[in-house]
Amino acid sequence: MAGKRGGNRHQKQSSGGIRGMLGRLSVAVVVLFICTLSLYSTIKGTTSTSRSEIRVDELWSPAAAQGWRPSSAPRSDWPPPPIETNGYLRVRCNGGLNQQRSTICNAVLAARIMNATLVLPELDANSFWHDDSGFKGLYDVEHFIKALRYDVKIVERLPETSSKGKSKKMKAFQIRPPRDAPISWYTTDALQKMKEHGAIYLTPFSHRLAEEIDNPEYQRLRCRVNPSV
Ligand SMILES: *[C@@H]1O[C@H](CO)[C@@H](O)[C@H](O)[C@H]1NC(C)=O
Repeated sequence: MAGKRGGNRHQKQSSGGIRGMLGRLSVAVVVLFICTLSLYSTIKGTTSTSRSEIRVDELWSPAAAQGWRPSSAPRSDWPPPPIETNGYLRVRCNGGLNQQRSTICNAVLAARIMNATLVLPELDANSFWHDDSGFKGLYDVEHFIKALRYDVKIVERLPETSSKGKSKKMKAFQIRPPRDAPISWYTTDALQKMKEHGAIYLTPFSHRLAEEIDNPEYQRLRCRVNPSV
């Protein structure tokens, strides 16, 4: 009996404790709710003001309007391409439309890695397209070059070289890159040939740069390039 009564009392006490706790909990919930609301409105307020101060949208809108993705701006120190180039990089993009597109992204990245000047990538006129309009027919070249001016230098064609008063077209040394070549291949083998010859021609170039690259800025550059057609 005594034990039962004791148990009852204990139950009462604990249920009273639960009620008290619930009360405190609901107060906490209300406070939390109010805090969240005010925090939310502050955040909303600050983002809209800082947006209008920096004008991020305006900065990127000319490129965006032309179909170049405004996303993936560099988030850390990202110097402009060096004034002195290590040479010229020519690539031939092969494969279907999507493949060629991602290959253009890789070409820009490869040029950046090598401090090279990129020659407008060559597209394959192939059975997928029934079309030989090339890069200029598909993309806005001027915008391609301008949108990426802080990333790489891009030229429409190899420059003329002159020797003994005669000018002739520069010739690019042709290399078949290993499949999914790592960045180190570009900074060693490829770079060496580029310095030797002044220009290299990587063909074929689809899947010739590793997908996985342990550098977020390089990944961001790849995204930044991605043109929409
Ligand atoms: C490219 O240039 C940057 C900055 O000028 C330098 O740090 C880097 O080592 C260069 N890379 C190559 C491959 O020349």
